[in-house]
Amino acid sequence: MISIAIDGPSGAGKSTLAKRLAKQLGYIYVDTGAMYRAIGLYALQHGIDVKNETAVQATLADICIGLKHEDDGQHVYLNKKDVSDAIREEKVGMAASAVSAHPTVRAYLLEAQRGMAMAADVLMDGRDIGTVVLPDATVKIFLTASSKARAQRRYKELCEKGQTIDFDTVLADIEQRDYNDTHRAAAPLKQAEDAILVDTSDLNFEESFEKLLDLIKTHAK
Ligand code: DC
Repeated sequence: MISIAIDGPSGAGKSTLAKRLAKQLGYIYVDTGAMYRAIGLYALQHGIDVKNETAVQATLADICIGLKHEDDGQHVYLNKKDVSDAIREEKVGMAASAVSAHPTVRAYLLEAQRGMAMAADVLMDGRDIGTVVLPDATVKIFLTASSKARAQRRYKELCEKGQTIDFDTVLADIEQRDYNDTHRAAAPLKQAEDAILVDTSDLNFEESFEKLLDLIKTHAK
């Protein structure tokens, strides 16, 4: 089986690029952030303190996450309900960041993620794919961009969706999330020693796509 691991901070363009690369290469796209977001959403919906590991752990038995590939792209299901849009809200992103710090949550998702990589050729994106989930991945990429460049992209995306939010809030959220993701004790965000670093601060989508496709084609032989 071929497995491509793409890790990096929030807003580096991982999921948009990963989706398109997986399609082009014919691999299954696994959005691991969506899995953490689904757990974060469930906790928010049930009034559970996302920082309380025991409380979050107790919900795992009641949570069933489905990633389905449909004609219009990947859909995320939480207990059979389509939550693809709901999990993209800023507050759910923060909740996902909090629940992802709990080792029990990570262990629960790790098993599911490894199972997916054993069943098909996958392109998996997240924070710890190259370091923890798939240490023997065929190709590892660490995709990053400056926090300002990432906040600008995110701000544009939110404005296009009609959400009213100011740029400084978006930048502060990104920086807070970076801090949480890199400073947690369990599987913090870090570049695997054998990952290829790609900085997209000065690249547009097409340029980033071509660069990654080329890297994967060269290394996944
Ligand atoms: O990539 P994203 O923004 O959808 O991820 C949401 C949160 O989930 C992010 O703050 C960190 C966490 N996450 C993680 O800890 N490990 C992963 N493999 C993927 C995401």
